Amino acid sequence: MARHSIILDCDPGQDDAIAILLALASPEEIEILGITAVAGNVPLGLTRVNVRKMLEVAGRTDVKVWAGCDRPLVRKLETAEYVHGETGLNGAVLPEPTMPLQDGHAVDAIIDLVMSRPARTVTICALGPLTNLAMAIRKEPHLTQRVKEIVLMGGAIELGNVTPAAEFNIYVDPHAADIVFRSGIPIIMFGLDVTHQVLVTRVRLERIGGIGTKVAEAARGLLDFFNRFDMERYDAPGAPLHDPCVIAYLIDPEIFQGKACPVEIELEGRSVGRTLVDWWNSDRHVPNATVMREVDAERFFMLLTERLARL
Ligand code: BDR
Ligand code: CA
Repeated sequence: MARHSIILDCDPGQDDAIAILLALASPEEIEILGITAVAGNVPLGLTRVNVRKMLEVAGRTDVKVWAGCDRPLVRKLETAEYVHGETGLNGAVLPEPTMPLQDGHAVDAIIDLVMSRPARTVTICALGPLTNLAMAIRKEPHLTQRVKEIVLMGGAIELGNVTPAAEFNIYVDPHAADIVFRSGIPIIMFGLDVTHQVLVTRVRLERIGGIGTKVAEAARGLLDFFNRFDMERYDAPGAPLHDPCVIAYLIDPEIFQGKACPVEIELEGRSVGRTLVDWWNSDRHVPNATVMREVDAERFFMLLTERLARL
């Protein structure tokens, strides 16, 4: 299988943090061209720090990090400290990073990294609101011919998690999501339908804790904190581990199943931020995303645990 060259756009967040670790632990399958931070789970002032905290705990200060947009395109920023804690990475004691941010804006970094490489060779992994990516597409429309694919965590076929209709990443910046879903770039969508099958149960958490390294200890602490809110809210045996699904797909795509569908973003009213997935293609539109719906959760956690043990 060809190695994926990726840009990781994220808003850490404990689940983003685990996704970063999974990508760092998988150099045979994944080359990280850079990581870009966006406002989402917590404000940009924290997400751009949190990315570097994770790189430093993993000893990977060679990875380049850019800060991006500090607010959605149109709407006011809404964050999720009620899930992630006030730092976004509550649950692990991680020192303030000393590695620098790169000069320049994440939107320009995305454009430069994609446009300087052969067409259709760069994959964008989007784990937060799609603001940076939408801005990059608006600024450099040729990106739509150059990006290989966008693999994103966002949306839902069925229930939302911030409103009855909407998932957090799409809800925070629906206008950005609309630009991305209309861009023509191939999209693989991991929505709540699939991530709510990937639960951090006690047994899975203890397997990660049992690895015994500094990185695994940090991961265990982050996931333990992450579990608190979601286990109570969803009355589930563990929190849904959303963002690492995107990275696991690049490593072992057979863990997941879905199909190509037309997807629209609701921009107004009570359902703002909803991903309207036409699973049966009732409207007979051309599909713009492969929407994942099924996952082998045990295989996912085997992979995650095996990879975290490498760091
Ligand atoms: C998504 O929102 C954030 O809370 C998580 O990091 C994930 O990207 C889940 O709705
Ligand atoms: Ca995220």
